[in-house]
Amino acid sequence: MSFKPKTLKWWRLASLLPLLIALALAGCGQTDVNLVTHTPNILDPKGPVALKESNLFWFILVVSTTVFVVVVSALIYSIIRFRARPGAAEPMQFHGNTKLEIGWTIVPSLVLLGVLVMTITTMNSIQQPASPNTITVNAVGHQWWWEFQYPDQHVVTADEMWIPTGTVVHVNLISDNVIHSFWVPQLSGKTDVIPGHDNTIWLQADTVGWYRGECAEFCGTQHAHMDFLVHAVSSSDYQTWIQQQQAPAAQPTSALAQAGAQYFASSPCIGCHMVNGVTKGSGAGLIGPNLTHFGSRQWIAGGVVDNTPQNLAAWIHDAQAVKPGSDMPAFPNLTSSQVDELVAYLESLK
Ligand code: CUA
Repeated sequence: MSFKPKTLKWWRLASLLPLLIALALAGCGQTDVNLVTHTPNILDPKGPVALKESNLFWFILVVSTTVFVVVVSALIYSIIRFRARPGAAEPMQFHGNTKLEIGWTIVPSLVLLGVLVMTITTMNSIQQPASPNTITVNAVGHQWWWEFQYPDQHVVTADEMWIPTGTVVHVNLISDNVIHSFWVPQLSGKTDVIPGHDNTIWLQADTVGWYRGECAEFCGTQHAHMDFLVHAVSSSDYQTWIQQQQAPAAQPTSALAQAGAQYFASSPCIGCHMVNGVTKGSGAGLIGPNLTHFGSRQWIAGGVVDNTPQNLAAWIHDAQAVKPGSDMPAFPNLTSSQVDELVAYLESLK
């Protein structure tokens, strides 16, 4: 029995190229949520804004791939078909081809017009949210971490923003330092956060999950460590979270944490950090993050490290070694038992 394979033509392979590119791009995202390594993927939209933007991307990719294939095929065909052959007579000499020139002016214009119309339609369709069900969050860009204020709920947190699914979230983008850019690839496009000019953006998550956000505008040495997490949860989980965040700081129970609380209340920490009910102030606009519920957070300092006791100890002892240039100074004179006490206290603030 003999099996004769079909010859694989080069153009059959070439036709797979767009598919391979799409697969390679889709492979950039991960579906599991490893909080530090999770890579946000614009091709895996989880809300209406991101979905429309993703659809526009696919539309333009298909159009541009088609143009590429048509033009390059015509080019390769012409090169092979009309190549100079030995002994061939001189080809016919002519000047211009009016029909062809009109054709290749009109066709690209129509293609670009189609892309323009689709782009403007998408832009208009994401200007205003359809759902009247809304919450408001102020996202404040610091160098280099995000503060999230819930003005209606009187909640201030950092590094992670919890939102209810199926709800329009109006985000006010605020900065008093340099220009940042707020971006949650799976939920919305980028919008600049400009000092002296508050921008707004809206987003909505339709699926429960953790979505990584990042600063998308170079804003200083630690721009790359200015990430945040959006945690989309059910309405009831959101209410539970809000109530937990509104509660005053937990009273430490272990002896270690109690010693840490005592030390914290008179330490230099309170010059920059707020713990509701322990230190004075509004809880917002301080140099460092509000720590009232620090122990419930996934990350430290814009996602530079996970929030674990070991990482927190290293951070308190010498933040400059972990995130050079950040506003958090090193405290070389803290004894290791003082660090352990502070860690126990801060991690107990759930
Ligand atoms: Cu903030 Cu880049």
